[in-house]
Order: sequence, then structure tokens, then C-alpha cells
Amino acid sequence: MKIAIGCDHGGYNLICAIKKYLEDKKIEYTDFGTDSEQSVDYPVYAYKVAKAVSSGEFDFGILCCGTGIGISMAANKIKGIRAAVVGNEFGAEMTRRHNHANILCMGGRVTTEDDAVKFTDIFLNTPEEGGRHDNRVAMITAIEDGTFD
Ligand code: RB5
Repeated sequence: MKIAIGCDHGGYNLICAIKKYLEDKKIEYTDFGTDSEQSVDYPVYAYKVAKAVSSGEFDFGILCCGTGIGISMAANKIKGIRAAVVGNEFGAEMTRRHNHANILCMGGRVTTEDDAVKFTDIFLNTPEEGGRHDNRVAMITAIEDGTFD
């Protein structure tokens, strides 16, 4: 499994905790920055990670900003990306099972480091459910492609 990770200054603390988790679990990752709590623009890192995941080179992405919201909005502009803001364990599981999310987004100003690691562990270890969920995800893709109507 290969993971692309990125953050802005507001999510830097969470990404540090997540990097430690990935290293402990021996999960391969590439860090697309940022690398400090110096103020930066979250769309830059959303774009890098989302492009890396949409290219197929990475299985999943993890993005953190202050709330998880801005960075998810930017990531979701890239074709093939389903970036989900997660703030609880149920959401971490269900966005994999039902939405087939491929990028996990969290906020350093709303989620603790321990919870972010817990949500990451759930997200990376939960499979996609097929059936009606495949159909719904295909609808999301059709909206993206402009073929939904
Ligand atoms: C940066 O101050 C903050 O706006 C950003 O981290 C994020 O929360 C945006 O959604």
C-alpha cells in the first residue's frame, strides 16, 4: 500500500502523528509537504496529493489543514478524487464502505492527534462495499464527467 500525504500549517501536527503511525506500521508513504507550522496555502498541497492519487501511483491520500474542509474542497476538484472530511470513527469507516473515499481529510484545530491516528487506521483498513454503493459512486463519477443527466 502506498500513501500520499500532505498538509498546511493548520494540519502539520496531525500529519506528524500520522507519519509516525505509518512508519510504525511499515506503510510506504510520500510526504508532499508542508514541513512546518509556517503559514502556507492549503490548495497547493491538496493539488499535489490529489494528482498523485488520481494518477494511480498511490492507493490513498491523507490531507490535513485546520479544519480538513478547505483542503478537501480543493482535492475534490481533481478528477477521480473522493476526499472526505472525517471527525469520528463511524465516518472514517463509512466513507470507505459507502463512498469509496480515496483521500482522508482531517483538521488539526478540531481533531486530536490520537483521534487522527485512530481515524487513519480505520480508513486504511476498511474495504469498499459494492452493490448499491458501486452504483452511487458511479453516479458521483458521472456528475464529475458531465454524463449524469
Ligand atoms: C488556515 O488558517 C486555515 O484556513 C486552513 O488550515 C483550513 O482550515 C482551511 O480550510
